[in-house]
Amino acid sequence: MATSSSIGALATGVCSPIMSAPHEWDAEAYQRLSDPQFAWGLRVLERLPLKGGETVIDAGCGSGRLTGVLAQRLPRGHVIAVDRSTNMVEEARRRLAELGDRVTFVCTDLTTFVSDVPVDAVFSTATFHWLHDHDRLFASIHRCLRSGGRLVAQCGGAGNLERFHAHAERVCLDEPFAKWFVDFEPAWNFQGPDATAARLQRAGFVDVACNLEDAPTPFADEPTFREFVRTVVLRHHLARLPYDALRARYLDAVVARVAPSFELDYVRLNLSATRA
Ligand SMILES: C[S@@+](CC[C@H](N)C(=O)[O-])C[C@H]1O[C@@H](n2cnc3c(N)ncnc32)[C@H](O)[C@@H]1O
Repeated sequence: MATSSSIGALATGVCSPIMSAPHEWDAEAYQRLSDPQFAWGLRVLERLPLKGGETVIDAGCGSGRLTGVLAQRLPRGHVIAVDRSTNMVEEARRRLAELGDRVTFVCTDLTTFVSDVPVDAVFSTATFHWLHDHDRLFASIHRCLRSGGRLVAQCGGAGNLERFHAHAERVCLDEPFAKWFVDFEPAWNFQGPDATAARLQRAGFVDVACNLEDAPTPFADEPTFREFVRTVVLRHHLARLPYDALRARYLDAVVARVAPSFELDYVRLNLSATRA
């Protein structure tokens, strides 16, 4: 059920605008709201053994929160931060300016990215599930790595956000939203560990390990939850709707279905592999 106070919040700019290009992000909001992704990412980084002089790709660097931590672990090394969102790359470049040439930013699609030098490792968090073609992705990562180089990553996995997406999709069927979602296709690709391990092996990786991990994520209150799902989880739903007031009504309706428990049923897929 829509509430006038939350529609007002959107209309008065308390929430920032929906990005029009499907692969663009509200990078400032993501930087502010991405504590869950940051916490998961720190644990993924712990799985990446580094001596400090390596060259590492951050695949899908986003606004650069984890890129900065990765760079701290590479005092004599180099980070290549790759992302296809111009907003994200510009935000990361601005925030990490003090690292100078220790970080190179590249705004491009990971499936077509070619590294000038064979890298020691590829690190990636909260990104692979936004790509439909994991065979192409893993082939591209394999090409970037030197022999013996490591891939250490995490993304949304099978079952990720199943409960929340069911609420969001139920609201898509209601008026006045239904006509905007007639041919709506999920933008995400949540894979399981077995299929992913098989793909990595087909791409030429060895020492492959993949597993799923439940990561239920509670939010402190409704405004925080609302702003988070607007920025991250419902980006593609909201981009279908043609004007702000309708987007605000859609958000209201989804939030009302979830209330009073503001928790997201995240499931993460951990991946690690070595280029033979
Ligand atoms: C949720 S953010 C994750 C950012 C950061 N790694 C983190 O964990 O906070 C996902 C990022 O993946 C990027 N991305 C999605 N698909 C991509 C692709 N095909 N090529 C490059 N970047 C992509 C998005 O632009 C976005 O910045």
